Amino acid sequence: MFGFTLFAYVAGTTAYVWPSPKLDALEAQRWDQDDTISGFASFLQPCDFFIAGNEDGTPTGRANGPDWIRTAYHDMATHNVADGTGGLDGSIRFSEEQSRSENAGTGFSNTVAVFASFTTRHVSLADLIAIGAVTAIENCNGPQIDFRGGRVDSAAPDAPGVPEPQQDLQAHIDSFARQGFTQTEMISLIACGHSFGGVEHKAFPDIVPDLKDPNNTLSVAHFDSTFVNFDNKVATEYISGTTQNPLVVGANDTTNSDKRIFASDRNVTMKSFADSPDLFTSTCATLFARMLDTVPSDVELTDVIEPLPIKPATVVLLLDGDKLQFSGFVRLFNQSDDSDQIRLVNLLWDDRSGETHNATLPFDRTSSAMGGRVKSAWYAFNHTADGNSAPLAIDPAAGITTMRFEVNGNVEDQGGVGFAVQDGYAFSTSSCMTSADPPKGRFDIAVRNGFNPTRVFLEREVKDSVNRTTVEETDITPPTQPVAADEAYSLWSVDVSDANSYTIGAEVNGDKFSTIETHSVGDLNPCRPQRRLQHKRRSSKTF
Ligand code: HEM
Ligand SMILES: *[C@@H]1O[C@H](CO)[C@@H](O)[C@H](O)[C@H]1NC(C)=O
Ligand SMILES: *[C@@H]1O[C@H](CO)[C@@H](O)[C@H](O)[C@H]1NC(C)=O
Ligand SMILES: *[C@@H]1O[C@H](CO)[C@@H](O)[C@H](O)[C@H]1NC(C)=O
Ligand SMILES: *[C@@H]1O[C@H](CO)[C@@H](O)[C@H](O)[C@H]1NC(C)=O
Ligand SMILES: *[C@@H]1O[C@H](CO)[C@@H](O)[C@H](O)[C@H]1NC(C)=O
Ligand SMILES: *[C@@H]1O[C@H](CO)[C@@H](O)[C@H](O)[C@H]1NC(C)=O
Ligand SMILES: *[C@@H]1O[C@H](CO)[C@@H](O)[C@H](O)[C@H]1NC(C)=O
Repeated sequence: MFGFTLFAYVAGTTAYVWPSPKLDALEAQRWDQDDTISGFASFLQPCDFFIAGNEDGTPTGRANGPDWIRTAYHDMATHNVADGTGGLDGSIRFSEEQSRSENAGTGFSNTVAVFASFTTRHVSLADLIAIGAVTAIENCNGPQIDFRGGRVDSAAPDAPGVPEPQQDLQAHIDSFARQGFTQTEMISLIACGHSFGGVEHKAFPDIVPDLKDPNNTLSVAHFDSTFVNFDNKVATEYISGTTQNPLVVGANDTTNSDKRIFASDRNVTMKSFADSPDLFTSTCATLFARMLDTVPSDVELTDVIEPLPIKPATVVLLLDGDKLQFSGFVRLFNQSDDSDQIRLVNLLWDDRSGETHNATLPFDRTSSAMGGRVKSAWYAFNHTADGNSAPLAIDPAAGITTMRFEVNGNVEDQGGVGFAVQDGYAFSTSSCMTSADPPKGRFDIAVRNGFNPTRVFLEREVKDSVNRTTVEETDITPPTQPVAADEAYSLWSVDVSDANSYTIGAEVNGDKFSTIETHSVGDLNPCRPQRRLQHKRRSSKTF
């Protein structure tokens, strides 16, 4: 039996033990950025891509990456170290926060609109805002940023307190102290952030005039000459006196906040960044991570989410008549050579009788993270003798307990723990649809004899009144008389008359399980009307 503990780490390593639904989801969102499944980084390819861009491709002067980084800072900047309130908690999604003068511009609504569609029960909007900033920085020439997960979306707006350019130096020092940063850290973090983006005319008409530049249609005065990429030009251009930063050389000195802040230690910090790109990079990596980890004091973050070197994904077991269909993928992380010719990947799995089975996995695809600096190779659990694609077939009576992978002869088994697979219940392909419009059908859940769940239920992710994702559960009534699917499983059936997507949950001894895959009536085969299910007594086989 495998646990669902958040902090179940293998001794001596920082990675966690698969499976752990929340960590698996956070790890995928953080490390499979350009995979077909998460698709997150496509908003940063290329780094000057802007979702509200001109249809003819003329540059607007803005880009998604800078918006995402500024969103993370403004969501975080409400933090109060003294009372533990505020911080990176997704409260920037509230229109009440977005309408404050401290949050001028369209960057926050644009960003929230993109991230809201990626939220799940496991990945909050606040975690996505943090991953978005990490991805924007890493994919656009910046350093690797440590990411921890577990942020919780707030139920209400946070107190105001994001710094504004017209405030004086002491107000900024005080504001950053409230957020948990010293004066030197303030200078550094602003320089790091203002390596990206600029100030837009429409949001700040008193700082930036209409530039009347056909190649900068939103009139954005950029902080440095490389506004979609991370580098220390914000510092070198400032120190050399060539900067065009509108918060340094703006016509109205009142709003030249970067000028006051950068010079507030006699330029010592900015000079050190101009002299050393490496110092700038390492300082920014540390401070960006601290910024993202600034959360309300009652929120406990996970350890840094390290990538699993060998990670099963989308592992699905379905009961299909007299066999279990087993499908999924395994990701081999950080493979410098993405040629599928050089690796032999075998999936080994044990059944309940202790027998081991072996299948050679076909190469499926590559993905990358960190803007292509890290490549992963994916192999599929597809196996037929003739090499055609089909899910693996498992004898239901034998079932499956655990799997391992053999990569070029090396066995990968999470330090001996193995990769546990639960075969206690599975969606059955006998599920069927009686009507597509309106949707009506029957879900059959195959429950292994001896699994003895206290509950089996439909799960549906819904947004609550403030858009936090929660799970709505609908219990499935146990069959009064066990309906055998075959010797090993009995069917629990439930009528479904909506088009929603459901995962299937089961609870055993207080442990909750959930399928990875979703099911909806529209995906089912039509019911065969006259077929009668065979009723059988519950088999006495043990689980
Ligand atoms: C005293 C503190 C700060 C002030 C007064 C300030 C002010 C501003 C202003 C006025 C803009 C223009 C926004 C727009 O036109 O939409 C801006 C943009 C930006 N700020 Fe700051 N900022 C501060 C600190 C920071 C920090 C600490 C970060 C991140 C670490 C950051 C990241 C950004 C980014 C990435 C942009 C570009 C947004 C875009 O181009 O869409 N800022 N900032
Ligand atoms: C706009 O950019 C294009 C392509 O880089 C360039 O050919 C053109 O001269 C630019 N126009 C102006 C007014 O700067
Ligand atoms: C400079 O900016 C401040 C703050 O926005 C404003 O109150 C003041 O009127 C401006 N000064 C000029 C000369 O525009
Ligand atoms: C800081 O550097 C800026 C830009 O080079 C310069 O204008 C300013 O005088 C310097 N300030 C101090 C206190 O050295
Ligand atoms: C990927 O592997 C290379 C060595 O092959 C290593 O230097 C690098 O740190 C690894 N990257 C990550 C993100 O694990
Ligand atoms: C699994 O099968 C492959 C290919 O037939 C073989 O090379 C490998 O040694 C087998 N592994 C085990 C553990 O039996
Ligand atoms: C393996 O099967 C999965 C579905 O189970 C499918 O998406 C994938 O394309 C198949 N891959 C290969 C290489 O046949
Ligand atoms: C919740 O999401 C809906 C639809 O995206 C949006 O219209 C609404 O403003 C959001 N409310 C909050 C508090 O985020």
